[in-house]
This record gives sequence, structure tokens and C-alpha cells, in this order.
Amino acid sequence: MRVVMTDLSQPSLPGTLPDKRQVAASFSKAAASYDSVAALQRAVGIALLEQLPDDLAPSRWLDLGSGTGYFSRVLAERFAGALGIAVDIAEGMLGHARGQGGARFHVAGDAERLPLQSASVDLVFTSLAVQWCSQFASVLSEAQRVLRPGGVLAFSSLCVGTLDELRASWQAVDGMVHVNRFRRFEDYQRLCAESELQLLGLEQRAQVLHYPDVRSLTHELKALGAHNLNPGRPSGLTGRARMQGLLQAYEQFRQPQGLPATYQVVYGVLRKPLQPGE
Ligand SMILES: C[S@@+](CC[C@H](N)C(=O)[O-])C[C@H]1O[C@@H](n2cnc3c(N)ncnc32)[C@H](O)[C@@H]1O
Repeated sequence: MRVVMTDLSQPSLPGTLPDKRQVAASFSKAAASYDSVAALQRAVGIALLEQLPDDLAPSRWLDLGSGTGYFSRVLAERFAGALGIAVDIAEGMLGHARGQGGARFHVAGDAERLPLQSASVDLVFTSLAVQWCSQFASVLSEAQRVLRPGGVLAFSSLCVGTLDELRASWQAVDGMVHVNRFRRFEDYQRLCAESELQLLGLEQRAQVLHYPDVRSLTHELKALGAHNLNPGRPSGLTGRARMQGLLQAYEQFRQPQGLPATYQVVYGVLRKPLQPGE
């Protein structure tokens, strides 16, 4: 068994950067199963939508890291008449989303190097995608570039503390990093403050999901495409004894509702100033 996401605990991690081709391949492969297991992703995206400024009326919006296009369809409904663009690094996700409504255009691209013209959109909405980007500063500067003056960037992401139960359980089994660290909340604070965007809101909220057993959690992570793509990940299959050890170690966290998996979710809303330097 291979589990979970990329080591992004530092603002930049030379030598441990995720291979974006692997990220794209992993999410492309998960396109068909993603929606059936995306309860957390739905809840987070909906919470992010609730944080959009009331007066926001974009004529063009970008759903960045759009996945299966669920939130592109929500945005299209909310901003009827506006033109929507979906960008994702995974062709398989874009292929799944195309033809289901939502965005008018589906474009393959990287959040750190957006394939869009400068000052071309009024809203960049990105939910649970930028934790895959090692250079969050680049995501911010690209959002700043493609936004029109007065435009809004709304993002959700994950930070340190996410899946700590799984991390601690693996640690007890073999001391290896099966579940990787995430950027710290303080790094999000600093990088947002250093950007040329005005910060309207930034907060961290814990969300805990419960599972009957460890396999349900790890199967779900796989179905989401959230494999461990860290260059230093343990290779090969998980042996029976180690798996048994993992199940046992995770039991220490059991609650009446089941085995908890904590996600530390970051929500940020920023605006591009009307005048440069404002
Ligand atoms: C967890 S899914 C979220 C999908 C969608 N936003 C949602 O909330 O349902 C993460 C998505 O981000 C995409 N992604 C990962 N890294 C990316 C990058 N550097 N640029 C653009 N998209 C990226 C993945 O391919 C995947 O579709």
C-alpha cells in the first residue's frame, strides 16, 4: 500500500519536489473514482464558496485544479452568463469534466505557470489543489498576474496536521514517512502577506472524517488519486506484518464514531488591488 500526497512542509523543497507528471498521471487515473469518495472535497469547496465576497460578480472565472469539474458547474450556476475556464494539470480529469457543463474551456495547465493572459479573469477559485504545488509564491504571483484589478483569488488547501493519525501509526510501525508533511499555516500567512494581493481572510479549520477501518481510509485516498508521490517514498508492497502493525497502531485513535482522519484545511481570500501598490 502506498499512501498520500507530497511533502510540502517547506515553502520550497529542492530535491523533494513532486514530479508533476506523476501528479497528473495519478489524478488522471483517479478521474472515474474521484467523485464517489470526495465528501471532504465537496464540503471544503462549499465552505470556500461561502467566503467569496458578496459583491463579486465576475464576467470571467477560473476554476484552477478543477478536477472532475464539480465546482466549475457550481460556479457556472452561481455566475450565470459569465465565461468559465477550467485548468487542471491532469488531462484525465479535464476529459472527465468536458461535456458535463460548467466551464466553457478546459485547459491543461499548471497553477505555477498559468496558460492564461494577464488581467484576463475576475475570479480565481481553487479548492484543494495548491497543496500539490511546491512554490505557493508562484501560485500567488500567477493568480495576481491573471486577475483583473479588483479580482479575487479564493483558495483552499491543506496544512501541517493533516492525516497525522496515519502518519503517527506508520511511524510506530517502521519509522518511515508514508504520509508526508504539508506546508505550515504560518507559511501560508507569510506568503500571502508577501504577495501583491490584499488579504481579505485567511484561516485554518480542522475537519475530521471517520472510517470503520484503516483500509477504508487508504482505499479512499487511492481513489482520490492522492498517492504518495514523494521521491523518498517507501517502495514495493506493504507486507502482511507491517499492515497488521499499522492496523493495530491506528486503533489507539479509535473514537465511538470510528477511526478519525484529521484534515487541517486552510481557506484564503485575496483581492488584486485596483491600483498597483494600493
Ligand atoms: C483533490 S483534487 C480537487 C479537484 C476539485 N478542485 C475539487 O475540489 O473537487 C486536486 C486537483 O488538482 C489538480 N492539480 C494538482 N496539481 C496541480 C497543478 N500544479 N496545477 C493545476 N492543477 C493541479 C489535480 O490534477 C486534481 O484534479
